[in-house]
Amino acid sequence: MSNKQKDSLFIKAAFSLPTERPPIWFMRQAGRFMKEYWEIKNKYSFLEMCKTPEIAADVTMLPVNLLGVDAAILFSDILVTAEAMGGDLSFTQGVGPRFANPVRLKQDVERLTTDVSQKLQYVPEAIKVIQQRLDGSIPLIGFAGAPFTVMSYLVEGGSSKDFKLTKLMIHNQPELAHQLLNKIADVTITYLNMQIEAGVNAVQLFDSWALALSWDDYREFAHQYNVRILAGLNRKDIPVISFCKGSSVFASMMAEAKPDVISVDWNADLLDIKKMLPKGIAVQGNLDPHILYADKKVIRERIVKLHERMKGENGFIFNLGHGIMPDIPFDHVKYAVDVIKNELTNA
Ligand code: CP3
Repeated sequence: MSNKQKDSLFIKAAFSLPTERPPIWFMRQAGRFMKEYWEIKNKYSFLEMCKTPEIAADVTMLPVNLLGVDAAILFSDILVTAEAMGGDLSFTQGVGPRFANPVRLKQDVERLTTDVSQKLQYVPEAIKVIQQRLDGSIPLIGFAGAPFTVMSYLVEGGSSKDFKLTKLMIHNQPELAHQLLNKIADVTITYLNMQIEAGVNAVQLFDSWALALSWDDYREFAHQYNVRILAGLNRKDIPVISFCKGSSVFASMMAEAKPDVISVDWNADLLDIKKMLPKGIAVQGNLDPHILYADKKVIRERIVKLHERMKGENGFIFNLGHGIMPDIPFDHVKYAVDVIKNELTNA
């Protein structure tokens, strides 16, 4: 990590150190809301983009150059681990991710490999190219999907509204579910350590769909694996961020895994969550992404209001409670960054 990256607003806030203003980056900051993304996307499939280091680097740099965010995030997807394990993954416009060979029976789980390092080599290669492009300017965030969320795509065969098949496996065949979750957890540890070794400056674990689970099921089928993953990381000097939709409910349990930062959805009051957490855990969030559809006046008001609430606290990273939607106007996103960078001060 360069000295500039180490002293950046993002790294300082992630380690709960004082900053002159909160850093800002967005989940899904590189994507379809940018016409420059479409210029690349029209030429390649999504997986080709992820697997070609120069292209992944180009896309990673779009929000850095066009929005001026305070951190870059590797351009990839949480499902690349599942693909490397043997999932037959495709992304279709308007449909989203699809696995042609869903994992539902014991033999499906057994057929998945945990020997993934070779297949995922394009990721450390991309990280090296991105770090050259960043040239020490701002930190680069790596990431992976958490076992429960990745499992849900493998079992359902794609996106799901109710996670019916995933929850059926958890409830009727808990041993099979644990066998699958264990395999994904092993792969996730290997994969995140590869990213750390290649030079990312932070990692975020995405357990996007945790909200679907009851308290007890979250502990047994999600949280337990996230604890194991965080304990298995060669953290060096980099912060670890834990995200889920449902964090406003599960934050106290998530803290047991000892992340440096908890990324919070938009249901909770962020300061209440921060105060409830053990000292030294920073928070990230938690604007409702739909605010970015609203008029600029509203965007500004909500940003200022959240900052007023969090002002006295060290350890606050501005973000949304979930990712940017594809049809949010680009100039609204840029406006939000400008308000945060030009108008907010912790003084
Ligand atoms: O944040 C970033 O800019 C980095 C890149 C990134 C992508 N996906 C690119 C992407 C990250 C961090 C993700 C994480 C991801 N992927 C999550 C967790 C975050 C979240 O939103 O909850 C999940 C659940 C996925 C799975 C996934 N990938 C879905 C459901 C979809 C289809 C729906 C959609 O938004 O298109 C994807 C595809 C995907 N991942 C795209 C991008 C830019 C769109 C691909 C396209 O251009 O068609």
